Amino acid sequence: MKVFVTGGAGYIGSHTILELLKLEYDVVAVDNFVNSKPEAIKRVKELAGCDFSFYEMNVCDDWQLDELFTKHKIDCVIHFAGLKAVGESVTKPLEYYENNLNSTMVLCETMKKHNVKNIIFSSSATVYSTENEMPLTERSRIGGCTNPYGWTKFMCEQILRDTANANEGWSVALLRYFNPIGAHESGKIGEDPQNIPNNIMPYIAQVAVGRLPYLSVFGDDYDTPDGTGVRDYIHVVDLARGHVAAIEYLNSHTGANIFNLGTGKGTSVLELVSAFEDATGVEISRKIAPRRPGDIAVCYTSTENTKKELDWETEKTVFQACADTWKWQKNNPHGYDSISRSHEDIRINSKSSS
Ligand code: UFG
Repeated sequence: MKVFVTGGAGYIGSHTILELLKLEYDVVAVDNFVNSKPEAIKRVKELAGCDFSFYEMNVCDDWQLDELFTKHKIDCVIHFAGLKAVGESVTKPLEYYENNLNSTMVLCETMKKHNVKNIIFSSSATVYSTENEMPLTERSRIGGCTNPYGWTKFMCEQILRDTANANEGWSVALLRYFNPIGAHESGKIGEDPQNIPNNIMPYIAQVAVGRLPYLSVFGDDYDTPDGTGVRDYIHVVDLARGHVAAIEYLNSHTGANIFNLGTGKGTSVLELVSAFEDATGVEISRKIAPRRPGDIAVCYTSTENTKKELDWETEKTVFQACADTWKWQKNNPHGYDSISRSHEDIRINSKSSS
């Protein structure tokens, strides 16, 4: 079975390709490296011990995409490619709508032309309304997104739902991710944000390795057990396996199908910091800061639907995710650029340098 992966060099894309290759899927991947590095593709090939077709390409380029679909007989598409920085989307909304919506539409047009009917879309729990009760289920209310990035996910989901309704035999999986963290256990691939990280785990990892002085804990007065925000942190390798489960599901189901990919467990900011310290022996300096605008107190998913329908559930713990993140960050203090910057002095904020 041939799977076409867009955004294959990204954080979740690279881990998913590795899982696919391990299970002997045939992979064709593209990335334009706007937020990723070619080194990620090289390392996935090394870890898998096999090769796959890769093209440097923008998914919005309909001509190149048509050529690729002519050359390769694709069975299923996984669409990761997209801009994803929440804050940046507020300052550059048109870039976000242009890129994320266009790529999805060009992809669907090309799939239609080449009679490819299975697609998995990389969506987010951000599509849920903030008015919902916890845990979120696939039937919780959506909409009322707080930023353009969230709206692009919401709109792409709608485009895919409408396309599935209008075209006989289409199978769509809308995968709503909770908070992906961690790295492959080898420490060779992981999350490599290009600027100061927005998300907490890469931020903690950069504090640990000495690239950032301390973590700002955004708010300690939420209505949660320790006052800090609670999220559903899912190990990226579990998330990658969720995509494999979705491919199998689409082989026997049509229409648009929604799945929340999370662990079902909430972890607070302070619990996450403690887990990181316990898993690594590295102390994380932190300061309590004001709440971050747009944040909610608690967000986690029910796992009932994914257990029943996808026969998938997470296997790895937050502790393991912290250990794996540290292995990646310690071995690659500047992410995939570390080889060219290895002469620089990296100060590890560690009592022991375990
Ligand atoms: N946090 C800090 N300090 C930081 C960064 C984050 O205290 O420096 C806290 C946040 O306040 C929140 C928690 O850590 O309580 C998680 O924050 P992240 O930014 O890592 O993740 P979010 O839950 O805010 O956002 C994630 C994804 C988005 C997605 C959103 C909703 O990164 O893409 O979930 O599903 F839109």
